Amino acid sequence: MKVEQNISLKPYNSFGIDVKAAYFAEFNNENEAVELLQEYGKYRPLILGGGSNILFKGNYEGIVLRNKIKGIRIVKENTTEAVIECGGGEVWNDLVNFAVSRNLGGLENLSLIPGSVGAAPIQNIGAYGVEQKDSFESLEAFLINKKTIQVFEANDCAFGYRDSIFKRTLKGNFVILKVRYRLSKFPVINTEYGAIREKLNALGVTAPGIADVSKAVTEIRKSKLPDPAIIGNAGSFFKNPVVSHEMFIHLKSQYPNIPSFPAENGIKIPAAWLIETCGWKGYRKGDAGCHIHQPLVLVNYGKASGNEIYNLSEEILQSVKERFGIVLEREVNVI
Ligand code: FAD
Ligand code: EPU
Repeated sequence: MKVEQNISLKPYNSFGIDVKAAYFAEFNNENEAVELLQEYGKYRPLILGGGSNILFKGNYEGIVLRNKIKGIRIVKENTTEAVIECGGGEVWNDLVNFAVSRNLGGLENLSLIPGSVGAAPIQNIGAYGVEQKDSFESLEAFLINKKTIQVFEANDCAFGYRDSIFKRTLKGNFVILKVRYRLSKFPVINTEYGAIREKLNALGVTAPGIADVSKAVTEIRKSKLPDPAIIGNAGSFFKNPVVSHEMFIHLKSQYPNIPSFPAENGIKIPAAWLIETCGWKGYRKGDAGCHIHQPLVLVNYGKASGNEIYNLSEEILQSVKERFGIVLEREVNVI
């Protein structure tokens, strides 16, 4: 395993922030991961997947360990279901395509989400009415402090909206090596999200299968979200806030057009609407900006520093707080 020193992380983060890591290495299997952690554990290890949910505010003075564990295979199946095991370093969308091409249903609404399979359970990725927890079977993680490999089943993970135990009590203390998903041989199509139905109608599909749903979601995403290969970004920068019913009634009396969605523990308000209403949509300062079509996405037009993006996020957060009394929570991991 090659350990490099003082290397640029620009190719390894979707914001395209040009910072350096003091040390950098890649691991292809769990033994390499464990060996690297044993040898370099004292240099504050940071596990990296596709770098599509991370903002580096400055150089990383420790060791960045990039997950390259590969392999996608069906490990169990019966007449109705199949369990797929996938290396944490696989590209998420390759796993989706593996499933869709075999007509195994459950992941199709999550088509084209950037990043690695190993990172998917961490914030319980979600889109178009589905979250990865809906098909999640189990994962294997190496616990850095305990120096052991542990299997986590769904009940152990405390999955929530963009949330899990890996963002909380286990934060910074684990490496996700492999993940298993349980998929259906008789897929139930989920077109609950209006945009999917509209897209399928536009494509002239009347009896959609999962490949059609995957195609529709892929097209919607391409039309809505900036491509990080062209404009640096990490998807939604903030989570959509959930407020109490009382708070919502109060806001609705002041802003009759406020959009809202029912949530488990209150009412979800689109952060994009809050940010747009505060006047940030399309805002640009230097190379840091708030996207012209989707204000929840902060962008790097070229040479913005991590601090410039972070400072813009702070200004947005303060203005939303002052105007609406809502404190936005960052979705992106700030390092
Ligand atoms: P990274 O950015 O590499 O890492 C994220 C965090 O996880 C870091 O803290 C890192 O240290 C840690 N980590 C990564 N891998 C491991 C591992 N194997 N073990 C331990 N820790 C690890 N997200 C959604 O939920 N829904 C969307 O619709 C969506 N759309 C997006 C669209 C765009 C254009 C972009 C750029 C991002 C979008 N995201 C979305 C966010 C992102 O795709 C997900 O959060 C994804 O799971 C990040 O994967 P990654 O491998 O790039 O993680
Ligand atoms: N809106 C505006 N102005 C805009 C755009 C949107 O006011 O310019 C409002 C509208 O009311 C719209 C609502 O925001 O109905 C929701 O917009 P959209 O459907 O684009 O979804 P989102 O809330 O911005 C969330 C996720 C995305 C996910 C999509 C689709 C979060 C934080 N973001 O975005 O996930 O792909 O729904 O399901 O939950 C990510 O996590 O990185 C991510 C991109």
